Amino acid sequence: MTSLAWSLQKFEQLDSTQNYILNNLNSLDEGACVQAATQTRGKGRHGRYWSSPEGNLYFSFLLKPKISKADYGQIALLAGLAVAQALHPYVNVVLKWPNDVLVGGQKICGILIESVEGALVVGLGVNVTHSPFEGAANLADFKLSPDTVRDIILEKFALLYDRYISDGFEDIRREWLSYSFDTNSVMSVKIGDNKITGLYQGLDKAGYLLLLCDKSSEVITISSGDVFQNYVTSD
Ligand code: BTN
Repeated sequence: MTSLAWSLQKFEQLDSTQNYILNNLNSLDEGACVQAATQTRGKGRHGRYWSSPEGNLYFSFLLKPKISKADYGQIALLAGLAVAQALHPYVNVVLKWPNDVLVGGQKICGILIESVEGALVVGLGVNVTHSPFEGAANLADFKLSPDTVRDIILEKFALLYDRYISDGFEDIRREWLSYSFDTNSVMSVKIGDNKITGLYQGLDKAGYLLLLCDKSSEVITISSGDVFQNYVTSD
């Protein structure tokens, strides 16, 4: 038994499973999980669109963790780790900070976290049968259904969440790093209009990205941004 009791609602179509939970927060409890076969306005990070054709997996769930807002990013890392554990028997998974799951350098799952008044909505899009955008990987070779993939991810997430609540973030951080890029991989991070290039130094104790900056030769801590690996620039 885990402390999270999942309560699943399935829909043929929604605008976005994130929006469904955000619009119904008052009537939903922790563990509410909403899945849609397709989404008409799937939301990605930074206001981007998440293409949602039938056959892939789209679901969101509600958490009400008693942690500080500054640590919400740790839940995103935890979700990525749950996906990595779930897909690891099938594919060679790499976690890219903050919350992308890659296979062969291509994105197989995206994770979006939104928070309102102590409630966290965690949304996952997994390319089960299609690769709906450039640079996407999928699980089509394994003939898995979206529901099967959802169940494995939810099971892994619930176990990790209990570990996180009882023992803190450190073990999760270490395991997350075991699925991530090698230390000293070349990496660029886009933060707003700025781009910083350097060598990946893993994550700090809070889950922020550490980058040994090319220009300053200092290790900087990055709390939000988009990572491009092996993206070397001349500027
Ligand atoms: C990303 O930009 O990588 C995050 C993508 C998150 C997509 C999922 S699909 C289920 C949930 N509902 C949404 O509208 N978005 C998330």
